[in-house]
Amino acid sequence: MRTRPLKVALLGCGVVGSEVARIMTTHAADLAARIGAPVELAGVAVRRPDKVREGIDPALVTTDATALVKRGDIDVVVEVIGGIEPARTLITTAFAHGASVVSANKALIAQDGAALHAAADEHGKDLYYEAAVAGAIPLIRPLRESLAGDKVNRVLGIVNGTTNFILDAMDTTGAGYQEALDEATALGYAEADPTADVEGFDAAAKAAILAGIAFHTRVRLDDVYREGMTEVTAADFASAKEMGCTIKLLAICERAADGGSVTARVHPAMIPLSHPLAGVREAYNAVFVESEAAGQLMFYGPGAGGSPTASAVLGDLVAVCRNRLGGATGPGESAYAALPVSPMGDVVTRYHISLDVADKPGVLAQVATVFAEHGVSIDTVRQSGKDGEASLVVVTHRASDAALGGTVEALRKLDTVRGVASIMRVEGE
Ligand code: NDP
Ligand code: HSE
Repeated sequence: MRTRPLKVALLGCGVVGSEVARIMTTHAADLAARIGAPVELAGVAVRRPDKVREGIDPALVTTDATALVKRGDIDVVVEVIGGIEPARTLITTAFAHGASVVSANKALIAQDGAALHAAADEHGKDLYYEAAVAGAIPLIRPLRESLAGDKVNRVLGIVNGTTNFILDAMDTTGAGYQEALDEATALGYAEADPTADVEGFDAAAKAAILAGIAFHTRVRLDDVYREGMTEVTAADFASAKEMGCTIKLLAICERAADGGSVTARVHPAMIPLSHPLAGVREAYNAVFVESEAAGQLMFYGPGAGGSPTASAVLGDLVAVCRNRLGGATGPGESAYAALPVSPMGDVVTRYHISLDVADKPGVLAQVATVFAEHGVSIDTVRQSGKDGEASLVVVTHRASDAALGGTVEALRKLDTVRGVASIMRVEGE
């Protein structure tokens, strides 16, 4: 074993970074044996230098992250600050000064992954980010390496722990939205600004990363259709239960049947209770990968939190250190397929629509006519109501999102339709 240590600069020492430092220290001997050289924490960049950080030598702490990555003797920079800047500049500066990079930053990778990979290639360095998607779950490496000989057609899953925690609590304990969000924040699952979680930006970033790797093409955050879960109500859960379903925030990346394009989307959806994703509780994540030769694979585990995420970061750190000792680099970006990303209107799925309507003769026929005129076939209709008002729940067969959008627009114009209470896609059947 080499005795000269590989030097690691840790950028950020919050929920994830503090756990990375702890595991690096407590497992130092095992890590050295697995890598073939000791790894040494050479510096820790933070915002608040005076904060007490258990297990961290105060002499290593700095607020000058730029100087740390420019030192020239750093082998690997671990970026767990989050956000776009200064993380992006620190990463490119690290490459330029000879370091490889491990990051957990899905927002940055989804937005600028192509440029960051190009910068890594230019300097012959590694850029690894297993922790950026689904916390502890090995997903990037299986997609990039284990399935490199197969053709992935679909990736479907729960990739945000915070929203799964909230939806699970709303469903199973009847907890309110804010109460469940506060608990997820206290447990270290939520992002600094929970808007990224609850409005689906975090899951959309992960979907962009997964789709890009799965389909060997570039999918940017802006290419991902996104709806958050803030408008999911107790009434939606009641409706889902009547259908034998629950509600999850799903990320769905699909290759078109003709193979010529892909789609990526994040939105709440009803899924049958019999579907394995329905049983994914609390902050756990689960992702199905469907590929031509392997068939259906499922990846499941803790999707957020300091220690699980640090596990993925440490796995990358070991891989990058091994590459470094071997004078090699791991796989970079694979975007050769250059497939277009189709708009949401092209997506085909089923829908659950709740309408408030006047309860009088001919209304049901009127509503059914609007669906027929837009080529959307109705599967079931359920009506309940009294005193001249009724609630109609329509579940459709598969139709395009564009056709469903046109249907809903036309329904809103009917005098007899008082309102469209909710529209939810139905997946996983
Ligand atoms: P935290 O907010 O807990 O930690 C951020 C850290 O970065 C803090 O130590 C903070 O310093 C430091 N920091 C912020 N700005 C700067 C700056 N300008 N210069 C130097 N240091 C700075 O975030 P998390 O640990 O939760 O998340 C880190 C990354 O990991 C993010 O990209 C996130 O998306 C990702 N991630 C997080 C998961 C989780 O469950 N939390 C799961 C998977 C990925 P100080 O301590 O002084 O405030
Ligand atoms: N805020 C994210 C989540 C952290 O809740 O899933 C893990 O990426």
